Amino acid sequence: MLSWDEFDKEPTASTGAPVAVPETVTSAAASKPIEQAAPTASVETPDASEAMSSDNDALRRAKQAVEALDASSGIEELEGTANRVAVDDKAMINCRADLNQLVPFKYDWAWQKYLDGCANHWMPQEVNMNADIALWKNPQGLTADERLIVKRNLGFFSTADSLVANNLVLAIYRLITNPECRQYILRQAFEEAIHTHAYQYCIESLSMDEGEIFNMYHEVPSVAKKASWGLKYTQELSDPNFTTGTIEKDQTLLKNLIAFYCCLEGIFFYCGFTQILSMGRRNKMTGTSEQFQYILRDESMHLNFGIDMINQIKFENPQIWTDEFKQTATQMILEATQLEIEYARDTMPRGVLGMNASMMEEYLQFIANRRLIQIGLPAQFVGVENPFPWMSEIMDLRKEKNFFETRVIEYQTGGALSWD
Ligand SMILES: [Fe+2]
Ligand SMILES: [Fe+2]
Repeated sequence: MLSWDEFDKEPTASTGAPVAVPETVTSAAASKPIEQAAPTASVETPDASEAMSSDNDALRRAKQAVEALDASSGIEELEGTANRVAVDDKAMINCRADLNQLVPFKYDWAWQKYLDGCANHWMPQEVNMNADIALWKNPQGLTADERLIVKRNLGFFSTADSLVANNLVLAIYRLITNPECRQYILRQAFEEAIHTHAYQYCIESLSMDEGEIFNMYHEVPSVAKKASWGLKYTQELSDPNFTTGTIEKDQTLLKNLIAFYCCLEGIFFYCGFTQILSMGRRNKMTGTSEQFQYILRDESMHLNFGIDMINQIKFENPQIWTDEFKQTATQMILEATQLEIEYARDTMPRGVLGMNASMMEEYLQFIANRRLIQIGLPAQFVGVENPFPWMSEIMDLRKEKNFFETRVIEYQTGGALSWD
């Protein structure tokens, strides 16, 4: 680490080590051709007078360019009007106010979620994977059905979080025209990188065949169908020429938000989360389960942020929430539910870990009803109940505040989450 004293010393490299002075002329090197004198001599030193004149030209051009700059040129065109921003100027989409002015806040919920996300910071290496490694290597450690669940879920999630991250930065970020929401989206994008890191960390720790796991989204139909279902919504928006501003285009953006927040993060993750967390509750693959538990809590926040964004866009743009669009949104959530039910059947050909595919089907229908209601649509599955109430307890919103307060302390002390 640098100390203040070091600022008084000779120039040093960024590592703090002394800078090697090129030995252009030493007694030993003087008798040899220059190119053999020392490895550092491979960079030719330009003639001093030539370098000076070229520097002067560069400096003159730089000064001219700065003098020609108009202080406000380009800002209005690129970032909305150059006036001071008032709260009422702000809008979720199609906003004309300056997007570089974070305050005054209009959407306190977005800023609060950014703060909560930061308070929830964690890294995959903090989780001890030793018990998982021993169990995975032991031929009697897990049944074939349990191994299938671990591999399929690492296969699905390791690429799914990349799809979500890419959608954030390549598709929706530029179209959400509000700085406090963008601040959260940036935080979310980093969390998705941490999630991908966590899956990679599990895969590497367990010495799995990386090619097999990372290619499941091409090669295993129940994984590939979910990935390609989500990907088409990214492709609609990732054309750099796509802009919002008409009812149809605004609806395309809203469809993307419903696809990614309600369906991918809100439904596609739930079979896998439930399976892996159920494994942890049975004291198996506890490190992997702990990683998934941290991820699930991040995802719960992503989902809630997405629901808030969708509802705010609806509120500000009631013309896009047509009866036809409501039908489209409902169908998207039903399609996602069906894909996840197929995934449950594929990953659980028999009962395992105290659950089976038909229990998971009811759970997913219960989740789908929640997603529909959260964005103002009627539930579609009558009479379904939650067969896994312990999952709700992990995600219960009323516990979020306590969770984050606890998590900060746990993060600082490196403690682990406890199981109920
Ligand atoms: Fe994620
Ligand atoms: Fe997420």
